[in-house]
Parts: sequence; structure tokens; C-alpha cells
Amino acid sequence: MADRIASSVTAGSVLVEVAEGDITDQQGFDAVVNAANAQLLPGGGVAGALHRAAGPGLAEEGRALAPIRPGECVITGGHRLANPWVIHCLGPVYRMDEPAEQLLASCYRKALELAERRGLTSVAFPAISTGVFGYPMEEAAAVALRTVLEVAPRLEKVRRVRFVLMGSRALQVHTRALERLAGGGGGGQGRP
Ligand code: APR
Repeated sequence: MADRIASSVTAGSVLVEVAEGDITDQQGFDAVVNAANAQLLPGGGVAGALHRAAGPGLAEEGRALAPIRPGECVITGGHRLANPWVIHCLGPVYRMDEPAEQLLASCYRKALELAERRGLTSVAFPAISTGVFGYPMEEAAAVALRTVLEVAPRLEKVRRVRFVLMGSRALQVHTRALERLAGGGGGGQGRP
């Protein structure tokens, strides 16, 4: 099913979109981001869904790259996904991995830097840490979107970043955060 894009802004040369959808169904994106566990194994939520859709090769490839620490990212192939690449990020467990805000921001920054180094042009993120890891959605959305909008003007290869949210509440929270950070502009209005 096609994503419902609720809001978008342009930061530098990067289109940043907020959409409701499924991270395993992101045709046309070079990379999808996994809200991973340290061992890069299948789990619940995003990790479980991505591993199921990608097949066992994803965990096999991940074995050589694990473990990763909170705030870190690694990249693998997409295996049976429509996307050639998966960027695995380990978000902070809320109230356990500190400083949580810096660690969460690091996930988004490093994922985009990794994509840039690989020459990827489009990346789709889930809301890292907001499920099993317990990061409150409003706080996480502000950190995630602020970081992407800060990093975007430095990117030369990445041209499109999508936040893929599950459910209308997550969509609403991210839409509001994007519009607030972009100075009230949304709906494709450019951000300076
Ligand atoms: N597409 C988009 N978003 C999804 C999907 C999906 N298919 N499935 C879940 N989500 C949403 C959740 O609703 C939540 O808001 O992604 C967000 C992140 O949830 P989690 O996948 O639980 O990720 P996180 O909080 O970072 O916890 C990671 O969970 O499954 C385990 O092994 C994983 O230990 C790791 C931990």
C-alpha cells in the first residue's frame, strides 16, 4: 500500500518527508533503516519485520558486524527487500543508555553520513527507540527531525529522507514536530 505523506520540507537539497506506512514496503529507496538490536538479529517491531521480509541472509550478513553500541550504525545488503541496502542503527534504551538524546541523534546523523559515503540518494527511517526501547514519541520525534534537518544541508548525495511511521498518532506527532522545526511551513514549503 502506498504511504500517506502527511508533510514535507526541503532542507538544503534534501526533501524530508513524514509518512504513514510500513518500513518493509519502501520501494524506490536505496536504503531502509533498521531499529536494530546490538546483535543485529531478528527481534520484534521493525527488526522482526525487516528480517522476515529480507530473509535469513540479513542476519547472516549481520553476524560479522555485531555487536554494535547505542548510537552506532552499520550497513548490509537488503537481501530480499526491494531496497539494495539496510542501515542498522542501535537506538538508546530510554532511561538506561545515556545521554539518550545524543545517542538518538547520533543514530540519525551516522546513518545519513553512512548513506552519503556509499553514494546513496534516498533513505527511509522508522521512529528509532520509540517502541520496545520506550523513548517517548514526542521527544524522539523532535530529536530525530532536528538532527535530519541539521545534517541535510551538508549532504551532497542524499536527496530524499522519509520518516515512515506506524499509526496515526506517530504520524501526527512527527508532522507537528516537522512543521514546528521548519518554522510552521509544511506541505512542501521550503525551509531556508
Ligand atoms: N514499519 C514502520 N514502523 C514500525 C514497524 C514497521 N513495520 N513496526 C514497528 N514500527 C514502529 C513502532 O511502532 C515504533 O514506533 O517503529 C518504532 C520503533 O519500534 P521498535 O521496532 O520496537 O524499535 P526500538 O524501540 O528501537 O527497539 C528496538 O526492539 O524488536 C526489538 O530487536 C529489537 O531489541 C530491539 C528493539
